[in-house]
Amino acid sequence: MDTVVSMRELSVTESVPEDVVTLVREARQVVALSGAGMSAESGVPTFREVQRGLWERFSAEELATPDAFEADPALVWTWYRWRQALIAAVEPNPGHRALAAWQRHLADQGGWLAAVTQNVDDLHERAGTDVLAHLHGSITTHRCADCQEPVEVPAPAYDGFTVPPEPEQPPRCPACQEGLARPDVVWFSEMLPAEAFDAATAAIRASDLVIVVGTSGIVQPAASLPLLGLERGVPLIEINPEETGLTEVMDFAIRGRSGEVLPRLLAAAGIPLDRR
Ligand code: OAD
Repeated sequence: MDTVVSMRELSVTESVPEDVVTLVREARQVVALSGAGMSAESGVPTFREVQRGLWERFSAEELATPDAFEADPALVWTWYRWRQALIAAVEPNPGHRALAAWQRHLADQGGWLAAVTQNVDDLHERAGTDVLAHLHGSITTHRCADCQEPVEVPAPAYDGFTVPPEPEQPPRCPACQEGLARPDVVWFSEMLPAEAFDAATAAIRASDLVIVVGTSGIVQPAASLPLLGLERGVPLIEINPEETGLTEVMDFAIRGRSGEVLPRLLAAAGIPLDRR
């Protein structure tokens, strides 16, 4: 690619550079692409963290596959049920709330913020954000692994702060009586929901700023979305405490936690944070 990329890294203890503040203040059509790091400060472990209890021998990536579910449905089902219970028990953090405020502010100005997330949680929505695309589905709904019909499953009876001691079998599908219920999420090797991916693609193609928050930028095809912005010369800003697979294409990489950086960034750009 011929584009010359200027990349600056700054620590969260420094002030946000004026160039970034200006981009945020002047943007009218923003895509925010979020990943697991966005929910980390709410207490939801990312996919790169070491696991506990029933799953200590497995990485998250080993569990989030159709093969893992086929080999040991109870192990995978219980992992998702526990994450569902944990997500229900935690709260959106200041990063989620800042994005919601930015979306409201842009709507008031005749612009828009399209929230595109790889997260299967509903913390963006609970903060008040209208999410355009859940690229990897949702952990709160279920479907049959065979016939694909929706399956109603009551919320877990525990709060998710402790890991369940025993694996629990997934219920059988009431429609076909054959298949097992599975979470309505996208597993590795599965296709993303076309509607969500197309909506995200269209938003990036119409955007004047892309902000990438809390994603390792290595899981495809979601990680390729910012490249559509890059092709059009749209400024790209990353917020992440660590370097990611996307850092080298960013115009700015802000090293910090989203719950701290996003509110600071918006405040510096004069975007009101607490109006609801
Ligand atoms: P990952 O778990 O791969 O990466 C989390 C990212 O969040 C890392 O880059 C961390 O540095 C960063 N991070 C941690 N704490 C943060 C904080 N407080 N603020 C900002 N960033 C922080 O998560 P994803 O990139 O979302 O897919 O993973 C993508 C997909 O891979 C997931 O949707 C899931 C996973 O396996 C499937 O299940 C198909």
